[in-house]
Amino acid sequence: MTLALGVLISGGGTNLQAILDAVREGRLDADVKVVISNVEGAFGLERARQAGVETLVINHRQFESREAFDEALIAALKEHGVEYVALAGFMRVLRGRFLEEFRDRTINIHPSLLPAFPGVDAQKQAFDYGVRFAGCTVHFVEPTVDSGPIITQRVVPVLEGDTSETLRQRILAEEHVAFVEALRWISEGRVQIEVGPSGRRVTRILPPAVSE
Ligand code: GAR
Repeated sequence: MTLALGVLISGGGTNLQAILDAVREGRLDADVKVVISNVEGAFGLERARQAGVETLVINHRQFESREAFDEALIAALKEHGVEYVALAGFMRVLRGRFLEEFRDRTINIHPSLLPAFPGVDAQKQAFDYGVRFAGCTVHFVEPTVDSGPIITQRVVPVLEGDTSETLRQRILAEEHVAFVEALRWISEGRVQIEVGPSGRRVTRILPPAVSE
C-alpha cells in the first residue's frame, strides 16, 4: 500500500530528508502529500521544496487555543489527502481531536529508548543520567507525551569522550534508519496493534509476505 503521508516538522528536517530520500530511491512506498511546519523558516521546508513536495506553515502562535491549532492541522492534512502523519521533529504536543482523527495513524520519532527520557532534550537527559546505551524510538502516538505502541527502537553506545552533542548525532543517524524502516513496515501492512499481557497496547511486526 502506498502511504499517503503528511510530515509535520519544526526544525532542520533531517528525518524528513531520510523519508524523502527513501521514497525517491524506492526504499519506501509512500507519497509525501504535504510537509507542514509550525515554525516559519524551518530548514525542513526547504528540503521539502527541493523534493517538489508542497509545504505549509501553520504557526501555533496565531491560534487562540491548542484546539484551534489542532483543527487547522487536521483540515490541512485532510485537504491534502493525508492518511498517515509522521512527526519528524515536531515540537508540539498533539492530543484530543487530532489523535481521534488520526488514531493509530500518527507516528512519532523520539531520541531516547522510551519509556526512558520522554520530553525535551532527551539525548542530554540520557547523557546526564550516565546511561551506557542510548537510542531512539518510533511509536504510534497516544495522548500522553512520548507514549504509545512502540514500532521499533535502535540502540547506540555511549562512548568514552562523548558529549551530549556527539551522542545526539550518533542517535540521529540511527533515527533516520529507524523511521524509514517503521514506515516501510506500515506500508507493507506488517504492523499490528494488539493488547499485550499487561493490558497495554503494543505492536506485533508480521514477517514479510513471501512472494511467489
Ligand atoms: C530529532 O532528534 C527528533 O527525534 C527530535 O527532534 C529532532 C529533529 O531533528 N524529536 C523530539 O525530540 C520529539 N520529542 P530533524 O529536524 O533533523 O529531523
